[in-house]
Amino acid sequence: MSATIIDGKKVSKNIRETLKTETAEFVQKTGVTPGLAVVLVGNDPASAVYVRNKHRACEEIGFYSEVHELPEDTREEDLLALLDRLNADPKIHGILVQLPLPKQIDADKVIRKIKPEKDVDAFHPENVGRIMLGNYHFLPCTPAGVMALLDAYGIDPAGKDCVVIGRSNIVGKPQAFLLLERNATVTICHSRTADLASHTKRADIIVVAIGKPRFLKADMVKPGAVVIDVGINRLPDGKLCGDADFEPITELASAITPVPGGVGPMTITMLMKNTLTAARESVKAD
Ligand code: GUN
Repeated sequence: MSATIIDGKKVSKNIRETLKTETAEFVQKTGVTPGLAVVLVGNDPASAVYVRNKHRACEEIGFYSEVHELPEDTREEDLLALLDRLNADPKIHGILVQLPLPKQIDADKVIRKIKPEKDVDAFHPENVGRIMLGNYHFLPCTPAGVMALLDAYGIDPAGKDCVVIGRSNIVGKPQAFLLLERNATVTICHSRTADLASHTKRADIIVVAIGKPRFLKADMVKPGAVVIDVGINRLPDGKLCGDADFEPITELASAITPVPGGVGPMTITMLMKNTLTAARESVKAD
């Protein structure tokens, strides 16, 4: 069997086209242009690329977009003061502070400072709590992107055995909740899981987000399973690879996401969706 390659670029493009149309309609109806502020602190090259891509995506969809680039030695209080201004700015509906932050800044404080209504990453404790309760406006972008890919390919998690590898606050934990909400039976595996392969071999859907190149091997995957690879790892030769050993797994899985071109393009698309949602909610609240 040869797996279906889940085309995140194509799905992402379709969703962005829909968002562009919906944004034009929203602007026409309300006179409000959705606005996103992205804050980048320091010189992390990967973060700079992400921020640039977010800005471009905003322009493409028709959003107002601001990028705030602050130096590596920015003081925490100055970043918090900027967030106060953005929280109060009516042009801005979504705020994203690119992580990781330099070590003098407490990321937790920063996340709590962003108004929950503008927290398009869905990292604020209020939004995390809402996700647990199934009562949310925003979903964190990467797990939401995974769900959108499953939907686009008609893969219904209901009743399936799903294994999420990784328990980060950004991906693993919310991913498990989203699958649970869609009636999957979910197991979360992590670095301390005993006999990880015994779990993955039973899984109908595996979401791997552990940050280790080619960690998930073909002999850990059940024939016919779906493998969603959230990893983006840079190899010594400069090439990107995921957390799954892609080629051998394509021989036995029913579907798999490539890296690059799988989950990656979906993340920014979901950020755009959250920004439009935030703008819609702000108009309702007026
Ligand atoms: N750094 C890596 N992924 C993310 C993300 O989804 N949001 C933010 N703010 N920073 C990140």
